[in-house]
Amino acid sequence: MNTTQYASLIQAAVAIRANSYSPYSNFKVGAALLGKSGKVYCGTNVENASFGLSICAERSAIFRAVADGEKEFEAIAVVADGKSPTAPCGACRQVLLEFGQDMIVILAGEDGTDGPSSEHTVGELVPHAFVTFVQNNGEGSRDSS
Ligand code: THU
Repeated sequence: MNTTQYASLIQAAVAIRANSYSPYSNFKVGAALLGKSGKVYCGTNVENASFGLSICAERSAIFRAVADGEKEFEAIAVVADGKSPTAPCGACRQVLLEFGQDMIVILAGEDGTDGPSSEHTVGELVPHAFVTFVQNNGEGSRDSS
């Protein structure tokens, strides 16, 4: 991933964050996922009056990409309220892990430029991960089945 792709992935997450449906938490999150094809898939958190049915931005981006036929990813950028980066929740980490321990997770504040941003691999975010049934143990290489 070059510097331009890196910056535009963050800006895609900033843009989609505006579409967040989060009337209960008022916490808007945007995620932009870069597929190995070069396509970008965006997601936001979508909440529900039955709170447990809400979905995070990261999973909404992953599910959108998979529904579109892409299963191998370079990186995901996540932006949330505030100047400091927000780390993905445990459920999202496990879902990201399904598609590759080497995927890069870029975290940034709400406008994507303010404050610090940070970068980790999914493997770093999930030490001692449960990958027992994950195809290729989360190496990110998938067949088409
Ligand atoms: N949220 C995300 O979208 N991603 C995360 O990794 C953490 C939390 C959302 C879920 C909920 O809509 C709101 O943030 C508050 O938890």
